[in-house]
Amino acid sequence: MKNLTILWRRMYAAVALSVFMCLTATTNADPHHPCHAPNMTGFMSVMSLKGDTKAFGAFTYDSMGKKLRFRSNESHPANTSMGLDLLMLFNDGIFYEIDSRNQSCEKKSLQCTQHPLDIPDDATFKGVKNTGSPSIKGEGLKTNEWAGSMPDMKGCYSMSVTMGCLPVCTMYFHDTYSFMVSITEVEIQIKDPDLLLVPSYCVAQPLEETPEGTVNSFLNEFM
Ligand SMILES: *[C@@H]1O[C@H](CO)[C@@H](O)[C@H](O)[C@H]1NC(C)=O
Ligand SMILES: *[C@@H]1O[C@H](CO)[C@@H](O)[C@H](O)[C@H]1NC(C)=O
Ligand SMILES: *[C@@H]1O[C@H](CO)[C@@H](O)[C@H](O)[C@H]1NC(C)=O
Ligand SMILES: *[C@@H]1O[C@H](CO)[C@@H](O)[C@H](O)[C@H]1NC(C)=O
Repeated sequence: MKNLTILWRRMYAAVALSVFMCLTATTNADPHHPCHAPNMTGFMSVMSLKGDTKAFGAFTYDSMGKKLRFRSNESHPANTSMGLDLLMLFNDGIFYEIDSRNQSCEKKSLQCTQHPLDIPDDATFKGVKNTGSPSIKGEGLKTNEWAGSMPDMKGCYSMSVTMGCLPVCTMYFHDTYSFMVSITEVEIQIKDPDLLLVPSYCVAQPLEETPEGTVNSFLNEFM
């Protein structure tokens, strides 16, 4: 219980700080340009700001090919509220919702390509943050902070990446939902390239029609 309280205090502080960072306008001309993450394998957790873990699982990311696979792991101890297996092909503007148990899938078009592993090109640089101690070796993490508007302009995001452009944490604040994505155990390689291939049982899948007013995106999967 004590740990939980501390966690909550930390989260509250992080959220308050991020809201502040989202809303503060930069006064200086911005000499920075958003970097792009390398190929990666790691874990992603998505937590609503009400405190429930929405999803936890492994991801594989091809930074040049702009492909992302995310499979939530329901056997993880965190009580996740959803099972997800997504293959996002950002360059093609489509994605697959995969159900490997019954080998079925849905193929949909993407209306927005924003996702928590890549800093949007129009993001604003907010500064450098030293988490922990910058002077004790192994006890600190230095990150670049970026922020910008949500695609529908009804909110904003705040993103932390390491100096080597590995994503650490992204907060999304919106008028109807808010959530935090944290990235852990990153390796800068694609460990299983097959995860980025469209499963054979999905190849012939017809593209579903997007109902009027629906926005499909990686972020919308958690809203
Ligand atoms: C990233 O992964 C893709 C797909 O496996 C590969 O074609 C590409 O060469 C990799 N890029 C780097 C920099 O390793
Ligand atoms: C899910 O988690 C369990 C237990 O931590 C692990 O054994 C399993 O390999 C994971 N599955 C995937 C697809 O990540
Ligand atoms: C997991 O979440 C569900 C729905 O949110 C809830 O009914 C259930 O009691 C939770 N289980 C545990 C072990 O916390
Ligand atoms: C596969 O299972 C999911 C639920 O687990 C269900 O919604 C879907 O309709 C099933 N698809 C097929 C083709 O049976």
